[in-house]
Amino acid sequence: MQTPFTSTIAFPQPLQVGALRLASRYLLSPLAGYTNLPFRLAVRELGGLGLATTELVNARALLMNSKKTKDYIDTCPGDQPFAVQIFGADDREMAAAAQWLENYGASAIDINMGCPVHKVVRGGAGSALMCNAGAASDLVRAVVEAVKIPVTVKMRLGWDDANHSAPQFAREFEAAGVAAVIIHGRTRAQGFGGSVNHAGIRAVVEAVERIPVIGNGDVRNVAEAQRMFDMTGCAGISIGRGALLNPWIFAQLCRWETTGDPGPSHGYGARLDFMARHFHLLLDQRGEKYACLTFRKVANWHCRVLRPGKEIQQRLVMIASSADFDAIVRHLRDKGPPPRWHEQALPELAVPKGPQSHW
Ligand SMILES: Cc1cc2nc3c(=O)[nH]c(=O)nc-3n(C[C@H](O)[C@H](O)[C@H](O)COP(=O)(O)O)c2cc1C
Repeated sequence: MQTPFTSTIAFPQPLQVGALRLASRYLLSPLAGYTNLPFRLAVRELGGLGLATTELVNARALLMNSKKTKDYIDTCPGDQPFAVQIFGADDREMAAAAQWLENYGASAIDINMGCPVHKVVRGGAGSALMCNAGAASDLVRAVVEAVKIPVTVKMRLGWDDANHSAPQFAREFEAAGVAAVIIHGRTRAQGFGGSVNHAGIRAVVEAVERIPVIGNGDVRNVAEAQRMFDMTGCAGISIGRGALLNPWIFAQLCRWETTGDPGPSHGYGARLDFMARHFHLLLDQRGEKYACLTFRKVANWHCRVLRPGKEIQQRLVMIASSADFDAIVRHLRDKGPPPRWHEQALPELAVPKGPQSHW
């Protein structure tokens, strides 16, 4: 249950990322395997989203016309504005990929400097760039100079607690022309462990002169958003796992920002509708086989919220037809929520252990 939470923050309006004026200061974080077109559309329909970002895509693979990579950046006219997140360690490839994406219709380019995953870092990309200030700035400048659309950088606080390089990097990236930085308040060594370091994010806010700094990490409700604004002075918030659990969070934050009240929390039926909408958008996009295979990978987090019981969860993670999916939704609707569903706090989402494992 969301407790009413009165906003005491004076928000400057609106959030501007380069030439892009966002409808809200709340962004959907890139989440590999999740923030594809159907999910972005399902969340957009609930309102309040300022900017959605694709999952990270490999600049080289994009230039080599990889079909899988093209799938990651699938978009449509209703999916505006959207940023594509790219990663790579080669300036020319990153610049060429950004140009390609500008022609493709991306509203912004987000450069990944936060990814801790071994296969990204070992090629010198992702958070490895945070160990080499010169190379990182050159790469950012090359991308900024290659396109007219805004370029942002998403990074962590630094490699480890002894090396919080983000403030210095943010200053240099601002000089190189980035339109905003998004800062996940953890180090690479931290992985997803511990809690988010608000003082670390504040140091980045204080390091830049004019560009907005978007805070990221552990925001799942209005109270946590207020803490992020209060303790960091950030201009906006990027939300990842919180949006998987509570896709209304963007609309709630907008309402809270203007009225001081996030509004009522959404019931079991609405959460079921969201799952069904997500599945049907997958179906519309590429047919039954694609929808079922893609849904299997995300079924567990819908189940974490809906708590449908072991048997239904098994059917959802093995879903093989839209008829079966619709029958499950009908069954869950008839059955109603599990006991004390309304009182449950948002569950934790599983995250990888350690800095080098997969997301
Ligand atoms: C499953 C998963 C996939 C992620 N994929 C990406 C990604 O593609 N690019 C990126 O920059 N960060 C990625 N992240 C990190 C998130 O964007 C975000 O920085 C992190 O989860 C902290 O924010 P949150 O607490 O709001 O989730 C991923 C995180 C998770 C849990």
